[in-house]
This record gives sequence, C-alpha cells and structure tokens, in this order.
Amino acid sequence: MFLKELLLKNRSYRRFHQDETIDASILKEMIENARITPSPSNLQPLKFVLVNDPEMNRKIFPFLKWAGFIKVWNGPEEGERPSAYIIMLGNRKISTHLEWDYGIALQTILLTATEKGFGGCAIGSCDRDKLHQLLEIPKNLEIGCVITLGKPKEKIVLEEVKDDDIKYWRDEDDVHHVPKRSLKDLILKTVTV
Ligand SMILES: Cc1cc2nc3c(=O)[nH]c(=O)nc-3n(C[C@H](O)[C@H](O)[C@H](O)COP(=O)(O)O)c2cc1C
Repeated sequence: MFLKELLLKNRSYRRFHQDETIDASILKEMIENARITPSPSNLQPLKFVLVNDPEMNRKIFPFLKWAGFIKVWNGPEEGERPSAYIIMLGNRKISTHLEWDYGIALQTILLTATEKGFGGCAIGSCDRDKLHQLLEIPKNLEIGCVITLGKPKEKIVLEEVKDDDIKYWRDEDDVHHVPKRSLKDLILKTVTV
C-alpha cells in the first residue's frame, strides 16, 4: 500500500469484528516498528503491554471512554469490541518529553495495524488508576494511552471543516464523518521558488 492510501485508511475505528483475533506476533511487529522510530535525545522512554486474551479484553473495556462528541453512544456493543489492546507506557524519569514519543509510537502502531488489514483507535480518556491495578503496571510507568485494535466494522469518511467545527459525527446510515482542516488553512505561508 502506498503511504497516502495507508494514511487515508488509518482512521480512528471504534467498532470491530470482535471475533477476528490479532495474533501476538502481529502485535509484536507493531512494537518492532515503533522501536525503530525517532525519540528526543534517543532516550526511548516507552514500554508496552500487549493483550489479545478475551478475558483480559473484557476487563479492560469498562475503563475506556469512547467518542466524546457522539453523545448518544457509549461505545461499541458486545460483538463489536476490540480484539486486542496495546497499552502505551512512559517513564518520566527517563524523559520529560514523553508526548513526542507517544505520538510517534501511536501513529507507527496504527499504520502497521492498517497495513496488516486491522485498525484501531487511541484512547487517552481512560481510568488510569484502574488499568494500573488490573494490569499490575509498575508505579514508575505512566499510561500514555490505550490503543484499541481489531478488524474494523465501520465506514469512516473525511470531509472538510466548515465554520471551524471540528466535531466528528455519525449520519443516519451509521457512517462516521471526520472533518479535517483544509490544506490552505494549514499552510501559514510559503516561501518557495
Ligand atoms: C492521543 C489521542 C487520544 C485520543 N483519545 C480518544 C479517546 O479517549 N476516545 C476516543 O473515542 N477517541 C480518542 N481519540 C481519537 C480521536 O478522536 C480521533 O483521532 C479524531 O476524531 C480524528 O479521527 P481520525 O483519527 O479518524 O482522523 C484520540 C486520538 C489521539 C491521537
């Protein structure tokens, strides 16, 4: 897949074919790709927890908050839930610039998932204390976000932002719409020849 095609396909999917499992070797490949990306001062402060066990999936799910802009929806129903999770952890003793590492790793993991025919969504809005307890994560590691993963079961389309409204929405056919600012809006100036 060419990069633009991969980037277009790499949307935030929140509904999945729950019975389509993701092999541990594929989850490890996602981390292998994240492993070789840039990191400020090359500090590499991240660690990851990989989960594809249905029982642990079931325990993680209640601690996640889904699609804040879609008020009438509390997240995917049983049968449409993620079949795997990657919990991204950062060590602030190693780096005070974790956000760069989180962002680069997140995009790398999601692009790898997309390339393999899967998809996912970053969940930053989650109960970190409960997840720490459940997954027995050492106290020196903070939870950056939870990456939900699975075989996507929804249609998502991009559209241009109108009237500065960036809120994503769902239409009557259950298609998820994501407004993106136009290229013209992003480029402040060009000093080119
Ligand atoms: C760091 C980060 C945290 C996010 N946290 C959540 C979240 O808690 N819940 C959720 O449903 N989506 C979350 N998202 C997904 C965004 O809502 C999504 O990226 C945005 O709507 C744009 O859609 P797109 O990814 O398909 O372009 C998060 C995305 C990022 C990058």
